[in-house]
Amino acid sequence: MRFRGWMITSRQDGSAAEWKELALAELPEGDVLVRVQATGLNYKDALAMTGRGKVVRAFPMVPGIDLAGIVAESRSPRWRPGDRVLLTGWGAGEAHWGGFAEYARVRAEWLTPLPAGFTPERAMTAGTAGFTAMLAVMALEDAGVTPERGEIAVTGAGGGVGGFAIALLAALGYAVTAVTRREALAPYLRSLGARAVIPPAALGDPQKPLQSERWAGAVDAVGGGTLAALLAATAYRGCVAACGLAGSAGLPGTVFPFILRGVRLTGIDSVYCPQPLREKAWPRLAALVPATAWEEIGEAAPLEEALTRSEALLRGEARGRTVFRIGSANP
Ligand SMILES: NC(=O)c1ccc[n+]([C@@H]2O[C@H](COP(=O)([O-])OP(=O)(O)OC[C@H]3O[C@@H](n4cnc5c(N)ncnc54)[C@H](OP(=O)(O)O)[C@@H]3O)[C@@H](O)[C@H]2O)c1
Repeated sequence: MRFRGWMITSRQDGSAAEWKELALAELPEGDVLVRVQATGLNYKDALAMTGRGKVVRAFPMVPGIDLAGIVAESRSPRWRPGDRVLLTGWGAGEAHWGGFAEYARVRAEWLTPLPAGFTPERAMTAGTAGFTAMLAVMALEDAGVTPERGEIAVTGAGGGVGGFAIALLAALGYAVTAVTRREALAPYLRSLGARAVIPPAALGDPQKPLQSERWAGAVDAVGGGTLAALLAATAYRGCVAACGLAGSAGLPGTVFPFILRGVRLTGIDSVYCPQPLREKAWPRLAALVPATAWEEIGEAAPLEEALTRSEALLRGEARGRTVFRIGSANP
């Protein structure tokens, strides 16, 4: 049986992504065959599609770090044909063929049940970005950062992680300040629940070891000087969840926020997040994000547009999340 999908191949001058016909027999080893109904575009997917960054670890590769769909065949007792599942991370789209195709063959233990009442399209509107935002919010809760403690900053607010972090925190009653380089996104960010929208420069001088205590906590998708400035302005026993490096992989700054204010810096990894935590985070995400936010954050597009959408995302023009519907069966 033949189906369509994106394939990245290695070339002398880098790599190239091509929309092509594939055969089920070409799919890699795995005990579960999933008919993919939706996938989404992540920062990592955009790097893989355009050949920037060393995301792909084996060629040829079907990209797509996320997928949601229906089990078509299973050799595992965990899943039966017809089960509704989702997958994020575990090396899909990097080391193992991923979600940018109509079928994927994966390992049973990588799959998470689709929460009740959730559609594949919503799951992929969230995708790795929304899941990461949920993990970051849960990390702030674990660190004792309650809504009464004060403002939470969310950086890279115009992106996928940022948008979901704002919607989730606002739904839980936190006062959220969105940090964006794009002033024009203010109405969108307010519609997601941000009470204030500020430019990165308003975070203060990243070279100052300490600033006045402003943030009870933060969700950071940007890294570098942005992360340093957040840490320097985090209040006593506050917590910053570091999720990304959209601006820089650097971590400039001093230890003063840690040793003088007991500030915590917590790392968020969605890729190898253990399954029990996934099964807590996904239903919570599905229940918390208000209906209006799904519509605001997600934009549906055909999977054939994945390359042009990737280029726009890396130019910093994308807003929220692009979700790709696959096939017609999307209940
Ligand atoms: N830890 C994990 O498991 C995990 C999971 C998912 C994503 N991530 C990482 O988290 C980051 C965000 O992911 P995403 O899916 O939200 O990506 P995204 O949709 O592309 O959003 C990133 C946002 O960061 C800001 N940004 C982009 N380039 C920047 C630059 N050069 N300097 C400063 N800000 C910049 C932009 O927001 P504004 O235009 O609003 O400023 C952009 O919308 C990425 O680095 C991604 O790799 C990590």
